[in-house]
Amino acid sequence: MNQNELKQAVARVARDYVAAHLPEGGILGVGTGSTANCFIDEIASLKGRIGGCVASSEATRLRLESHGLPVFDLNDVVARGLSMPIYVDGADEIDGQLAMIKGGGGALTREKIVAAMAGTFVCICDASKKVATLGNFPLPLEVIPMAREQVSRQLIELTGGEPRLRAGFITDNGNEILDVHGLSISDPVALEEKLERIIGVVCNGLFARRGADVLLLATQEGVITQQR
Ligand code: 5RP
Repeated sequence: MNQNELKQAVARVARDYVAAHLPEGGILGVGTGSTANCFIDEIASLKGRIGGCVASSEATRLRLESHGLPVFDLNDVVARGLSMPIYVDGADEIDGQLAMIKGGGGALTREKIVAAMAGTFVCICDASKKVATLGNFPLPLEVIPMAREQVSRQLIELTGGEPRLRAGFITDNGNEILDVHGLSISDPVALEEKLERIIGVVCNGLFARRGADVLLLATQEGVITQQR
């Protein structure tokens, strides 16, 4: 199977996971990216069963709506006292403890917000994303544009990595992305917390403190499930 076929295979397994575990009429959080897109196409068949979706990006909202899947504002979900039992999303890298680097698609802030509310975070990816140590994939950070240079300097000092502006890219929240190259992250939880303290950083792409609860990993031998 090529990478696209692996993404489709894991998307089908994730759809079956949702069908088995999401209560009838429940709210589903939906991630962003090419693997998440395969998943969205698969859950169109569960339309009558899913009460509504919360989208982690505008692109995801549009794709869900194109299938006739109802999309709810997260504020409304919380205000109505509803829960979100499951959130399904991809990752750029994931380690053995199910900590992740996310944000390759630039949606990290909304993804982290939706993930924080979810009961179970189900990560879906192909085997190329599984790593022993996070950091080969450049770590994205969403930054307030006026703080870009001062944040870059602090990132160099703190991590020893090389921050690069993602040229021509603006997030759904109107901010910029710095991708930090050349990292080898031995303690993802500690680094995530340090990055959160930098003024001007809206969000960093380390999902370690709230990592995935379930990993569905597409391999040539089939889709493997790992629980945290
Ligand atoms: C978007 C993300 C995606 O989950 C991540 O980039 C993986 O994307 P893909 O499934 O296209 O490889 O974090 O912000």
